[in-house]
Amino acid sequence: MTDQTAPNRKAHKYPYFAEEKSADVVNARMSPDADARLAQVMAAIVRHMHAAVKEIEPTHDEWLAAIKFLTDTGHKCTDWRQEFILLSDTLGVSMLVDAINNRKPNGATENTILGPFYIPDAPHYPAGGNISLDHKGEPLVVRGKVADAQGRPIAGAKIDVWQANDDGFYDVQQKGVQPDMNLRGLFTADAEGAYWFRSAKPRYYPIPDDGPVGKLLAKLGRHPNRAAHLHMIVTAPGFEPVVTHIFTPDCPYLDEDAVFGVKESLIADFRHVDDPARAKELGVANPFWSVNWDFVLAPAAPGAAERKMFHVSGA
Ligand code: BEZ
Ligand code: FE
Repeated sequence: MTDQTAPNRKAHKYPYFAEEKSADVVNARMSPDADARLAQVMAAIVRHMHAAVKEIEPTHDEWLAAIKFLTDTGHKCTDWRQEFILLSDTLGVSMLVDAINNRKPNGATENTILGPFYIPDAPHYPAGGNISLDHKGEPLVVRGKVADAQGRPIAGAKIDVWQANDDGFYDVQQKGVQPDMNLRGLFTADAEGAYWFRSAKPRYYPIPDDGPVGKLLAKLGRHPNRAAHLHMIVTAPGFEPVVTHIFTPDCPYLDEDAVFGVKESLIADFRHVDDPARAKELGVANPFWSVNWDFVLAPAAPGAAERKMFHVSGA
């Protein structure tokens, strides 16, 4: 662009700043040689940020408060605490990214949030193994099948399970308090695709809320609680892995999960069983809880290599 009206001034290549076209002014600076995907992402972010600022019309103090919030969020991050992911989780963005990247065919088990407490290499248990090493909470027996969309069993499917204990903490949050690998286990489906294990009925627990994200939630009148759940990753060669949860149906936070992780299809039917003989057979105290949960895996996209899992260490 050249300015024809000012003869003594140097012609200018880029537009000067103007409120009405502020985003275009910024995006015009991007080099045509910039990486195309980066340019697309940054152009969208600039457009949406400028639109938000125009809608909000912040004062300087408000803008500084926003900068301070992001600074505090960064300062809270360590190798074990990712406050920015927690921010993304509590704003529903993690679930949106997950949904976009896991559009599954009808009938396939739905994905939900991975969360920060997954660790690889959980101990491999035989069928029926008890992952509750601290023996807290009410006993739970989980059983079911892994199958494809046609109902054919997927023998050898791996079911990687982890959950918080009855005090509402994962083992990695309470090193030296809980046994290492408490409430974590890897199971293998048998020739019929069947699996089962023993554990403890999960309870709701708060996401780490002692940082800027927790303070923001409190100011917005939002609680930090996650609806009670077990986490599971189910994998089998030739199938899309599913990163998912099983939710208890009686949790008061089902429709107000702090990170929007609940999907209706993931709410299970937990039965309370009072049957001393059956409890003895299964090796659990009476009474106990029982849940049947089947997984349906979607076929991997043709030619898809084993998908690398996105894993960030804990909050
Ligand atoms: C979890 O379910 O473990 C979790 C998910 C998101 C944020 C914090 C915890
Ligand atoms: Fe969790």
